[in-house]
Amino acid sequence: MLRHLASLALASALVLFAAGTASASGLLLDPSEPEGNAACLECHSQPQTMVRDGKTISVHVDPEAYNNSVHGIISCSRCHAEAGPEHAADPTKPLGLPTGRALRVLKSEGCVKCHAGLYPASYNESFHGIAVKNGDERAATCVDCHGVHDIQPSRVETSSVAPANLPNTCGTAECHPGAPENFAKGKEHFVVAERESGGLHIVYKFFMGLILFDTMKDGPIVMFELLRRLTHK
Ligand code: HEC
Ligand code: HEC
Ligand code: HEC
Ligand code: HEC
Repeated sequence: MLRHLASLALASALVLFAAGTASASGLLLDPSEPEGNAACLECHSQPQTMVRDGKTISVHVDPEAYNNSVHGIISCSRCHAEAGPEHAADPTKPLGLPTGRALRVLKSEGCVKCHAGLYPASYNESFHGIAVKNGDERAATCVDCHGVHDIQPSRVETSSVAPANLPNTCGTAECHPGAPENFAKGKEHFVVAERESGGLHIVYKFFMGLILFDTMKDGPIVMFELLRRLTHK
């Protein structure tokens, strides 16, 4: 067991060192859970459900998908601080989490603990980020694009954000149905720098203003996201 933990720690350190993108602060594994995720998964690998706000919600986590995901090396509790030791003792006691959309928004705010820099910065100035901040009920949160317990980097073929899968990920009935084939071409995460050609920046601000207006009145959005991409050379 100790050897297993040591190699896990080493692997975590190597991954962090090699990739250098997630500047995770502190330990990846939670010292209060030296057994890693085995205890959580012992229950959560079961096809269980719970009832919250009158809705039946799955609490199943696929252990294989989780362990093979890019977050397989981190403790569940790094994203679920609400589930402390008292939870295992009495799982039916509600943890005070919201449900549905509000949960996605709340938990996506937590991604930023470890993923600083470009990703949150570009998201915050993207159409999605601005709309979510303004309470829009449909615009994508981090997990709407990336997934939840099965996140893979875009270079992996099965990733929801792999280039070949983007038309499917973006083109769902709730998001951008009928979006043109090349709708998702180009980078998702980029920032329009102030010092970039003044004209471009003004055009960008102008469309962001329009988008905000559009969000408020709940109109069609595909066109504006296209424009954001077009204004980015
Ligand atoms: C003894 C079994 C057991 C263990 C161990 C366990 N859970 Fe749970 N968990 C459950 C059950 C059962 C539910 C559904 C509760 C209900 O029906 O009200 C649940 C619900 C949850 C919820 C949703 C709760 C809510 O109120 O919205 C989260 C999040 C969660 N578990 C995370 C974890 C994490 C993280 C761990 C490990 C640190 C863990 N659980 C360990 C059985 C367990
Ligand atoms: C990278 C962050 C992250 C990690 C690590 C993580 N989760 Fe989650 N978890 C989420 C997010 C985000 C949601 C909300 C998903 C949604 O709204 O569809 C969630 C939802 C859940 C829920 C359903 C709660 C509800 O009220 O609907 C359970 C249960 C759960 N996670 C258990 C676990 C267990 C067990 C592990 C470890 C094996 C784990 N999670 C690891 C991010 C994470
Ligand atoms: C406790 C820290 C932590 C939290 C919270 C966290 N991550 Fe991660 N994430 C990591 C680590 C560690 C890696 C693996 C190292 C790496 O590849 O950058 C990673 C990798 C990733 C990758 C692949 C990066 C790459 O370049 O390969 C994506 C995408 C990702 N996380 C998305 C998310 C999303 C979305 C959330 C919120 C639901 C989230 N992460 C929350 C620590 C975290
Ligand atoms: C609209 C969909 C979308 C949203 C919302 C989104 N991402 Fe991404 N993300 C992508 C795509 C597509 C890529 C692939 C690289 C690119 O296009 O910039 C990516 C790449 C990444 C990567 C680098 C690893 C990889 O897979 O290439 C990380 C880390 C990441 N996103 C984190 C986040 C976080 C954190 C949030 C929320 C603050 C977020 N993303 C919101 C679509 C999205």
